[in-house]
Parts: sequence; C-alpha cells; structure tokens
Amino acid sequence: MDEIRIYPDPILRKKALPLKNVDGQVKEIADRMAESMHANKGIGLAAPQIGVLSQIIVVDLGEGLRILINPEMVEGEGESVLEEGCLSLPNIEVPVKRKDSVFIRGWDLDGKEVNLELVGFPGRVYQHEIDHLNGILIIHHISRLKRELLLKKMLKKLKDS
Ligand code: CO
Repeated sequence: MDEIRIYPDPILRKKALPLKNVDGQVKEIADRMAESMHANKGIGLAAPQIGVLSQIIVVDLGEGLRILINPEMVEGEGESVLEEGCLSLPNIEVPVKRKDSVFIRGWDLDGKEVNLELVGFPGRVYQHEIDHLNGILIIHHISRLKRELLLKKMLKKLKDS
C-alpha cells in the first residue's frame, strides 16, 4: 500500500498537473488513493499525498467514495474558520478560514463533468484537497511564527514516537 507522504516531503509543496483524459492509469491511482485514505481513516486525500503530481482527489464523508479529476472551485461565498487536520501533518490542528458555500467542478472517472454545490463542512473538505493540488497545506493558512512553533512540536513528537 502507498504510504502517505508526511511533511516536510517536498512533493507536498509542488503543483499537481491537470489531466488531459481519464485512462486506466488514472483509475489505478484513484484506487490506490482511496485505499490509503481509508486505511488511515481519512475523509479526503489528494494525489500528491501518495507521491503523484496529478490533479486527482478522493473524498469519503461516510456517504460513499467520490473521485474528482481536475477539480476546481468555480465559486465561493461567505467565510468561516474551523480547526482542520491533515494526514500529511500528524498531531497538528490548525484554524483555517474557508468559503462557506462553494461550487466545485471536475470530472468523474468516466471523464464526465461533475458539478457540486456544497455547504459547510463537505465544501471545506474539497477546498482542503484542492489546496493540496496547489502545494498548499493547512499550515500555510497561519502566520509564519505560529507555523514554525507547530512544526517544531510536530517533528519532535514524530521523532519521539
Ligand atoms: Co490534507
């Protein structure tokens, strides 16, 4: 099984590339992502987190697995702050400001366009995963000083465990 890439793995800061079409290889990557996400009890995962720089995300909020290729937020309204975690940043929670209601567009595994209208927490999860495709982690939503303190704590915990 694919290990989840943990910060400071440099691939987490790279931009994932858009896909031109959905082929068998894309399906295989999405399967591997879903497997790693479920094994780690995650609710979302982006391809760079298993070391693949393609624009693929998987989300499972308990209502079934959704796979989105080339996802983008086409509209967002309102803002709220909530503590978020990330499988690539163990033992860290960070308050992140995100849009309250969003329109997300992407493709499914048949290459068909999917449009999602999401409010509240589900929309937050998609925004988090789309951030990953742009090399942005939750720690990049806070000040540099707070970030450095948190990362020091995290790396120490990882070393001690
Ligand atoms: Co994450």
